[in-house]
Amino acid sequence: MTFSRVIGTGSYLPEKRLTNSDLERMVDTNDEWIRIRTGICERRIAADDQFTCDLAEQASLKAIEAAGINNSDIDLIIVATTTADQVFPSTACLLQHRLGIEGPPAFDVQAVCAGFMFALDVADKFIKTGSARCALVVGAETFSRIIDWTDRRTCILFGDGAGAVVLKADNEPGVLSTHIHSDGKYKDLLCVPVGVSKNYNLVHQGQAYTTMEGGEVFRWAVTAMSDIIDETLLANNMSKEEIDWLIPHQANIRIINAVGKRAKIPSEKVIVTVDRHGNTSAASVPLALDEAVRDGRIKPGEHILLEGFGGGFSWGSALIRM
Ligand code: UT7
Repeated sequence: MTFSRVIGTGSYLPEKRLTNSDLERMVDTNDEWIRIRTGICERRIAADDQFTCDLAEQASLKAIEAAGINNSDIDLIIVATTTADQVFPSTACLLQHRLGIEGPPAFDVQAVCAGFMFALDVADKFIKTGSARCALVVGAETFSRIIDWTDRRTCILFGDGAGAVVLKADNEPGVLSTHIHSDGKYKDLLCVPVGVSKNYNLVHQGQAYTTMEGGEVFRWAVTAMSDIIDETLLANNMSKEEIDWLIPHQANIRIINAVGKRAKIPSEKVIVTVDRHGNTSAASVPLALDEAVRDGRIKPGEHILLEGFGGGFSWGSALIRM
């Protein structure tokens, strides 16, 4: 049987830091409120001439280098993003061209903050079925572009960034299981209610903004991300004690703490980047994974449970052995 295995990780954050005190000068908010209610201290914002594909490219190059492969070894590219450079071609096609790769499939996956989990699920299935042997899976966002910077309820939360992994076919797992879910009846609770086909004039006027019923999204995020831990462990016949690291979607430290508490996973085993990255949507999980691999916390052979939650609602998880 063929499995997929993570053989390299990479990430990239834009240089510009937007601190809570910067936000104090933009909207009616304060550092204390933001820290206590969200755990966020700063987030990164892409430069005006930097686009999602630029961030994805930097993260990909690091993942490819860490994997010790050549660009030409890659036979599948999936980019999870809500903030594609263009309506089309996909950001994955733009990335493919940057990397000098010709021929293999490249496409985007749109599941907002759960996007990376969906992309990983798809790539894992390509590899398990023999349709690909070496996949580049990226979560990349310039979420700052779909934020209303006069709305204090949302603008304090999000940031830009990218994370990537290289998945390779192997006789040993690797990715032990993936789990993805959606429920569209919650479509209005977290959304950008305009697009190419609907209200395009607002996009044209730069009015395509994220809206959110924060409290309801919060409650749902805790429930969904707690339940999917149980689902993942059950599927693998594993106990919580066997999880070395939990990497939850980085939206709010209170959500992360509540999920860890419900799952009875001690905070020392939970990777947190939300304080420095804010919510980078599809990039949040691979960014946190790469950080913990590079700083030596995550070691070969360890079991990592990754999970994402976002608009749709859509949510997902993966259990991987490094
Ligand atoms: O990635 C997808 C997943 N996204 C999420 O999971 C986000 C989930 N939601 C949240 O993280 C939280 O609901 C928020 C951080 C968005 C809000 O925190 P909260 O504890 O739910 O606050 P709240 O919305 O209930 O607001 C409490 C108060 C309100 O004032 P009143 O009505 O009590 O007078 C708000 O107007 O805080 C006020 N408020 C602010 N005050 C200062 C809202 N935003 C701000 C702000 N600064 N930025």
